[in-house]
Amino acid sequence: MSVIMHTVHVDLAERSYPVYIGRDLLAEPQLLLQHLRGREVAIVSNTTVAPLYMPRLRAALGEGRRVTEIILPDGEQHKTLATLEHILECLLADRHSRSTTLIALGGGVVGDVAGFAAACYQRGVDFIQVPTTLLAQVDSSVGGKTAVNHVLGKNMIGAFHQPQAVLIDTNSLHTLPARELSAGLAEVIKYGLICDADFYLWLQQVMPRLIGRDDSALAEAIERSCALKAAVVAADEREGGLRAILNLGHTFGHAIETAQGYGSWLHGEAVAVGMLLAVHLSAARGWVDPCEIDVLSSLLRQAQLPLDIPAGMSPKLFLDLMGRDKKVVDGRLRLVLLRSIGEACLVDDVSASELEGLLQGAVARVKSAG
Ligand code: NAD
Ligand code: GLY
Repeated sequence: MSVIMHTVHVDLAERSYPVYIGRDLLAEPQLLLQHLRGREVAIVSNTTVAPLYMPRLRAALGEGRRVTEIILPDGEQHKTLATLEHILECLLADRHSRSTTLIALGGGVVGDVAGFAAACYQRGVDFIQVPTTLLAQVDSSVGGKTAVNHVLGKNMIGAFHQPQAVLIDTNSLHTLPARELSAGLAEVIKYGLICDADFYLWLQQVMPRLIGRDDSALAEAIERSCALKAAVVAADEREGGLRAILNLGHTFGHAIETAQGYGSWLHGEAVAVGMLLAVHLSAARGWVDPCEIDVLSSLLRQAQLPLDIPAGMSPKLFLDLMGRDKKVVDGRLRLVLLRSIGEACLVDDVSASELEGLLQGAVARVKSAG
């Protein structure tokens, strides 16, 4: 094989699978073909990604297969039950059998809805992820969470359904809009903060190369992120406990996304601000050195991510929205904090006054910056 490739294994007994990472992997048909059980394939993509990468994927599948292309409109607003039904209808109309394989070609939206369709169609068919955003490559394509949104809650309807393989062609990052690249980098930084201090240190050294889309730096960041996620998923596939550390910054972030309206802030942007709030809180508890606030601020700035909560967002609104989060269990808000850099912990004892103090500080920083 001529390409440079890394493989991460997601170790889940009979549901184990490889994550292939490298340049030009779509030009290596064997990687895909070895994971196809039958002749039938359905590729789910969207109107932005399909014109860019569908021809390469079709070429990799070669001749002699029955391929259905299902092209969705682009956007989080289409991650719905209606889109799921559309995919299932296409599969039925083209008479796909239980030995078909669904391939998701796109970002996290395509991956989540196509994965859910694979979990449902004929009670579950094979599924391959070909993620094309950095966020999907380091997070959503690995671990088997699939879902659609409902007006009453994001990702509230879904299933755990692990793929047969994940194929990450880092070439796809060269067409990704800059804001989307930065949003993915927020999740990369998250892995360093929650479980790998050395990785966090390395990111501080290579962030200019990552933002400059240096292929080898990106491939290494993706490989290390996927390996960290794979280890967490292998230890706690269905989020009985440990897997929740992957939500560092997400409870604050979801409050920002909800307050601003989905689509205004990208998920990774909101998570960046949320992670910084979590580090502030961890420092206030004496768990991490306060200088880590500046270290993370500088890293997020280099990654071209926001540091401050949206102007005009009051502590009261934050607390109200956070109270509605999925992480509220039996009326207690569960938050991910850091015991130290590289060591996350789950807490459910954050008092209202502690949170209010944190959020008053965040509001004051916005005012002094403006
Ligand atoms: P996305 O799928 O909406 O992609 C972002 C944008 O980039 C879209 O417009 C897309 O068409 C475009 N795009 C994708 N690849 C491209 C490329 N190579 N070149 C040019 N444009 C490209 O967003 P996302 O950030 O990838 O994923 C967000 C979704 O992932 C959310 O729905 C979130 O809930 C979900 N998610 C799921 C998990 C999980 O574990 N399943 C984890 C994190 C996030
Ligand atoms: N993105 C969180 C998880 O996969 O659990």
